[in-house]
Amino acid sequence: MKLLVTGGCGFIGSHVIDALILDGHEVINLDALTYAADPANNAAVAGSPRYRFVHGNICDAALVADLVNEVDVVVNFAAETHVDRSLHDPVPFVRTDVEGVAVLLEAVRRRPGLRLVHMSTDEVFGSLPPGVEADVNRPFAPASPYAASKAAAELLIAAYRHTYGLPITVIRACNLYGPRQHPEKFIPLFITQALRREPMPLYGDGLQEREWLYIDDFVDAFRRVLAAPDGGPLVVHVASGERLPNRRIAELICGLTGAPLSLIHPVADRPGHDRRYALDASTARALGWAPKVPLEEGLARTVEWYRVHGRSRLEREEYRRWFVAQYAERLGAGKGGESG
Ligand SMILES: NC(=O)c1ccc[n+]([C@@H]2O[C@H](COP(=O)([O-])OP(=O)(O)OC[C@H]3O[C@@H](n4cnc5c(N)ncnc54)[C@H](O)[C@@H]3O)[C@@H](O)[C@H]2O)c1
Repeated sequence: MKLLVTGGCGFIGSHVIDALILDGHEVINLDALTYAADPANNAAVAGSPRYRFVHGNICDAALVADLVNEVDVVVNFAAETHVDRSLHDPVPFVRTDVEGVAVLLEAVRRRPGLRLVHMSTDEVFGSLPPGVEADVNRPFAPASPYAASKAAAELLIAAYRHTYGLPITVIRACNLYGPRQHPEKFIPLFITQALRREPMPLYGDGLQEREWLYIDDFVDAFRRVLAAPDGGPLVVHVASGERLPNRRIAELICGLTGAPLSLIHPVADRPGHDRRYALDASTARALGWAPKVPLEEGLARTVEWYRVHGRSRLEREEYRRWFVAQYAERLGAGKGGESG
């Protein structure tokens, strides 16, 4: 199979590309190389004759129209992905996560037979009450500009399915973690801070509940979606059932890194912070999928990866500026050490 994978220099896309090349497919990786990208993420495939990198933007309709002529499947991982950044500056999220998807949809519409697999998130449902799991038909209630842009893209996709009969697959995943995730995200942020014995800035009371899945388990689910007969279900929820408050994740990271619990540093909460996400993953399980990596094992693997590879990423000027802008004031005003 020949695939156009967008956003393949980021966290999830790079792991999926590794698997696709291993499975014998041909891959074109279209990535705009935003701050979130790291070309080192593609080191394992860069020398393969079945891999090609194209530096470009999914909003570039002419480029996308050209590239789709070369492939059988388009997989869209390109996105602005960090909720906190969407609170500071939502417009780039609308541009890439909505307009970019519109460009891909138009390209797919004009190339009959081309399949599109689009990556979405549990955040489209907003915060769920205790005990509730979102099934694939639950109405959207996004609460951040990031989640709203992802939900808007899904509405467009639903309209294209309905109007043009396009068999577009949407994968909604819970929070993924593992090697290569940008250090601004919760788990890498806390691991890298813990490894350096620096404060771990925990938003609010730290009781926000998230569902965590190790990246290899996601890749396994993705492979099954791609191989499903007749394209499989139109919407697939990929999630682990491992739901924990953020504070508990912080404590596990302290345990794995030997950092003292006193480094967990409560800070002013993220505005509008959702309390709880939870997906009903029966659609993924119907494909024979089940997660294999328990949270503590996945976290231990992730800690080891950041122990070896984390430093170079933290030293980037862009990351340092972001950390200071996002946390310096909060940490200065926080109630350090209370959780220890
Ligand atoms: N990480 C998670 O836990 C998670 C969970 C559910 C869903 N998702 C979704 O999965 C997808 C990938 O997430 P990730 O964590 O790998 O993101 P990431 O931020 O690590 O990587 C995003 C990649 O997209 C590229 N990109 C951004 N804008 C682009 C544009 N306009 N054109 C081309 N490339 C562009 C970036 O350069 C980067 O390489 C996103 O759609 C995200 O919403 C992520």
